[in-house]
Amino acid sequence: MNIAIDGPAGAGKSTVAKMVAEQLGYLYIDTGSMYRALAWAAQEHQIEIEDEQAVSELLKNNVIHLKRDSAQQRVYWNDEDITDRIRTPQVSQYASVVASYGAVREQMLVLQRQLAQVGNVVMDGRDIGTHVLPDAEVKIFLTASIRERAERRLKELQQKGHQTDLAELEAEIAQRDKRDMEREVAPLRQAEDAVLLDTTGMTIPQVVDRILQICKRSGE
Ligand code: DC
Repeated sequence: MNIAIDGPAGAGKSTVAKMVAEQLGYLYIDTGSMYRALAWAAQEHQIEIEDEQAVSELLKNNVIHLKRDSAQQRVYWNDEDITDRIRTPQVSQYASVVASYGAVREQMLVLQRQLAQVGNVVMDGRDIGTHVLPDAEVKIFLTASIRERAERRLKELQQKGHQTDLAELEAEIAQRDKRDMEREVAPLRQAEDAVLLDTTGMTIPQVVDRILQICKRSGE
């Protein structure tokens, strides 16, 4: 069984998807980290982020690997472990720009389907239920209010020692939502057969339980 979890920035997808995967003994695949890796590389190599062709070539000529260690998924750009460098606000903004490029998404789609071939995966992103794994047995669309998502992101960033403020994060999230929903290729939207889960006011264990119930029902 494959599980697709989509939704906007900061809805808690990765935390929840990771826990669902652990509970079920499935492989967790964070597709956002792949767009982040490309965005990081563009920044690192001083490639003009608005230059679709240059960004797409960069992806074509390099390799993104996702590797599991016991605790988490690690992200490699060729042989370089960049896991701890792809969560900055700058990389977040760039990631949503590179994710709007058709030539980039085409390549990512191929890579992501290859990763899912092992079966029994929990994959999170924006277009998993609609494009990457349209046949996934369980599809969840996870969301929460912008305020709550900004508050969650603030905590996450503070724990990693980054300084930002709530209003700034809210504005950034709103801008990313807009870009992710309005892009022409594979925009963020709920698949027709996805279950909508608004997590505003819910705790993480509650959300995980709810998804496990949905999985159980669909496996019966
Ligand atoms: O989930 P995240 O914040 O790590 O994702 C980073 C960016 O990548 C986000 O702006 C949307 C984009 N993305 C996408 O377009 N499609 C995916 N399957 C995953 C992420």
